[in-house]
Amino acid sequence: TAFTITRKTDGISAAERAHVLANPGFGRAFTDHMAVVTYTEGRGWHSPEILPRQPLLLDPAASVLHYAQEIFEGMKAYRAPDGRILLFRPEANARRFRKSAERMAMADLPEDLFLEAVTQLVSIDSDWVPAPDVGTLYIRPFMIATEAALGVKPAAEFKFIVIACAAGDYFSADSGLVSVWVEENSVRASRGGTGTAKCGGNYAASLNAQMEGKAHGCHQVLFLDALERRWLEEMGGMNVMMVFEDGTLLTPPLASGTILHGITRDSLLTLARDRGLTVREEPYAIDQLYADATAGRLKEVFACGTAAVVTPIGAFKSTRGECTIGDGKTAGPITSSLRQTLCDLQFGRTADPHDWVKVV
Ligand code: COI
Repeated sequence: TAFTITRKTDGISAAERAHVLANPGFGRAFTDHMAVVTYTEGRGWHSPEILPRQPLLLDPAASVLHYAQEIFEGMKAYRAPDGRILLFRPEANARRFRKSAERMAMADLPEDLFLEAVTQLVSIDSDWVPAPDVGTLYIRPFMIATEAALGVKPAAEFKFIVIACAAGDYFSADSGLVSVWVEENSVRASRGGTGTAKCGGNYAASLNAQMEGKAHGCHQVLFLDALERRWLEEMGGMNVMMVFEDGTLLTPPLASGTILHGITRDSLLTLARDRGLTVREEPYAIDQLYADATAGRLKEVFACGTAAVVTPIGAFKSTRGECTIGDGKTAGPITSSLRQTLCDLQFGRTADPHDWVKVV
């Protein structure tokens, strides 16, 4: 696919960009360009463009604004020691994006077009990929329904857009390990719902719990299943994993259809199996977590996702009280070494036996 390229002519200076790249935070330091591809029913995907990053012109009746026909992906570009820029399992994002589109009755986007748009954007904005000791380029592909129509029906017009931002750590590292609020009132997803789709609505639905958690001094929120309010599902924007004293790694299974099929989740399970750890994808109850942590059987818990990478959790809080994981202050050894193995691969520092890394 040939993208029409319109370069930004009044970008910030290299010195200003270097200043931003030294401490980018998460989700604010946007690059100069965006990729846009348009879908019109009957015509299919057309007019692929790279444009200077700019506000969108949308009809106020665009379906996305009313009925939330929106999906997105999260992925990163990494700077390797030799200066090459790498993507990690981008085909898995492209595939998941199609699944999300199907669930939300949106246009099917060919995987090669998804990958081409991402590659084109990263190439033109490659100066925005931070040094590896600072962070990564966070890439946000998304699709919105742009048709002006208030009837509740699948839209006939969409835009697929890719933006990117320089990114450091998702969690600000002010306070040691991350603490997590166990949400007992609202749920994130229910069987038959949209939990496995990466749609904006799932994240909107997590925000009041996230606020409740914050009010209790927590950085993140853990959702339980909708039926029994008992089984761990996932957090506000990332999956969760447990490590036990026998070295077993456990994470909630995907079978319920209520948990996002995390690519970081899948990669870590593979890396854990590679090193001979026992991996269990099994339901795990919140009562059990409190009991196992108190008895010392549960040694480590961590959050994992593209944005979160692998983030150790130091404590859970809920109406039943607080429980500390490990010493509550330092990352456990399995958490640390899985994070290291994953990051070494992503940044191109080690051999890539699974063929996960793609050069831009
Ligand atoms: C990601 O990890 O890429 C996500 O999409 C999660 C988002 C809450 C930042």
